[in-house]
Amino acid sequence: MKYTLAIETSCDDTSISILHGIDLISLKTFSQIKDHQKFGGVIPEVASRLHSKYIFLVIKEAIADAAIELKDIDRIAVTGGPGMVNTLQVGITIAKTLSLILGVPLYDIDHIEAHAYSPFINQSINSIPNKAIILIASGGHTELLLKENWDLKVLGRTKDDSIGEAYDKVAKTFGYKYPGGMILDRIASKTTEFEVEAPITRLKNYDFSYSGLKSFVILKNKNKFKPEAIIKGFQNAAIKQLILKVEKAVKEFNIKNVFVGGGVSANSLLRSELGKIKDINLYLPKLKYTGDNAAMIGYLAVLKIRNKLIKESDLKIDADPRREL
Ligand code: KG4
Ligand code: ZN
Repeated sequence: MKYTLAIETSCDDTSISILHGIDLISLKTFSQIKDHQKFGGVIPEVASRLHSKYIFLVIKEAIADAAIELKDIDRIAVTGGPGMVNTLQVGITIAKTLSLILGVPLYDIDHIEAHAYSPFINQSINSIPNKAIILIASGGHTELLLKENWDLKVLGRTKDDSIGEAYDKVAKTFGYKYPGGMILDRIASKTTEFEVEAPITRLKNYDFSYSGLKSFVILKNKNKFKPEAIIKGFQNAAIKQLILKVEKAVKEFNIKNVFVGGGVSANSLLRSELGKIKDINLYLPKLKYTGDNAAMIGYLAVLKIRNKLIKESDLKIDADPRREL
């Protein structure tokens, strides 16, 4: 069985995984969050420098944890996009270097497609249903996909902010550190305050929009209402928009399987509301695989290689920051 080393540097996590066959045997991630908090968000220049600084140490740790040596690696997988161009380039350059020096094939993996299969990490290929509706909710993306065999078709996506971005911006106006999604989730779930009702955006098709809700919440009179009540109203409206689209797609396409991925798939209300949708088979990632991680990159690479769905990349591949499925 082959060893795959996977690299993910599309945003602010320097993440390296090692798989033996389809099994994840090591995952090491250096999160840069603390370094970006003082700026209130991710600064691409700072992020790419930190990736360059730490990636070699993260690779060393991942190899040590897998109890193998670098020369044992049989193939390299790397996130090619979408993401931030400078940070993607760091991962891609290391991936090409390793491929060249070790004389092993290189595979370019799509970040969104990898989130889509994150519920199945460490499971066999046979456990993945052929047809599914897939919700990707993260800091960079809010998309609904239709899976038929190995094809993913985009049904709709956000017209403006992603849901994670809306969470982070709302959190910032309440004085919470970046990224604020998890903290708002915690506050909203714990509060017993009566919520300040926020409008649920309802675009006709499968598209999403979060800037109206974000502005509504940011402009709400903070002297008149308790922050917890506003945050609870925001979370209810933000999550409801996702639920309505998933329900619509399940019905319209008559598909029972629903996969979810991305940082916001850690959200407690999203998880419980999805759980209430009748007659669906819900596939959620483990919490540790909701955010950006190289386990999902390595897993998708092995899936694609085993199903002959991917060609080896050449050493000219470049970052593809705005790649769409
Ligand atoms: O997938 P991810 O790690 O990075 C991107 O590819 O964007 O997602 C990060 C996003 C951030 O916006 C963060 O605030 C949000 O996921 N997030 C949450 C929760 N945990 C993380 N949003 C809402 N509720 C959560 N529990
Ligand atoms: Zn992501």
